[in-house]
Amino acid sequence: MQRRVRHTAPLLATTIMACSSSTPDAPASAPAHEHAHGHDHHAAHGDGTKGMHHRFDDAEKWAKRFDAPERDAWQKPREVVTAATIAPGATVADIGAGTGYFLPYLAEAVGEGGRVLALDVEPNLVAHMEERVADAGLTTVSVAQIPYDDPKLEAASVDRVLIVDTWHHIDARVAYTQKLAAALKPGGQVVVVDFTMDSPEGPPREHRLAPEKVIEELTAGGLEARVVEETLPRQYIVIGQKAP
Ligand SMILES: C[S@@+](CC[C@H](N)C(=O)[O-])C[C@H]1O[C@@H](n2cnc3c(N)ncnc32)[C@H](O)[C@@H]1O
Repeated sequence: MQRRVRHTAPLLATTIMACSSSTPDAPASAPAHEHAHGHDHHAAHGDGTKGMHHRFDDAEKWAKRFDAPERDAWQKPREVVTAATIAPGATVADIGAGTGYFLPYLAEAVGEGGRVLALDVEPNLVAHMEERVADAGLTTVSVAQIPYDDPKLEAASVDRVLIVDTWHHIDARVAYTQKLAAALKPGGQVVVVDFTMDSPEGPPREHRLAPEKVIEELTAGGLEARVVEETLPRQYIVIGQKAP
């Protein structure tokens, strides 16, 4: 059965006019040159780093892609959540949460005493997640729309920030990291999961970021960063930690 998608007015004016895309849908296993993750080639400049802009405004279309049952095999969501070392009672922000694929796993990890903040720039995805969260009774999850350049998190308020397949979309990533660092509690971590350079899935190769680049950006933003050992076939995980 198809999920009903509400289309609401934007809560915030988007700070960046992302280009609309005529990118055709491609199956999850499509090669990169077919824009397998639905990206386009438009990039805008930030303050030294630039992200690839793409509107994810068709929630129904993206739900079919991001929540496709075959994704679990390569995404390994439980392994990602384990790598994020989320303790019961933790507060976790999922930035670029999309259709909410990770929300049930994060809600399970934080437990009844924890909190999950599902954040995205795209109003239609925010509406979609609100409905999904209500349908699934995920009472510890709050959904909100954020601007492109600011996660809008309170200072020292979150234990973990999860950013899956989204870091390469963000502009001015060093400045963005500084905002994340301010939002983390001491010892808190940013967990970046993104596509490897040779993954058959993901953005066009010129928009992919090697893990070393992510480490460089997180380090420049004030975090201590490292690659995490994992068995994901298409992605890497980089963790940036705030000093305890
Ligand atoms: C490829 S999707 C990944 C969705 C989700 N993390 C997942 O793994 O299923 C990228 C998401 O990042 C969001 N996004 C793009 N630019 C963003 C930004 N600057 N800040 C926060 N989210 C952003 C998009 O709206 C989209 O939902």
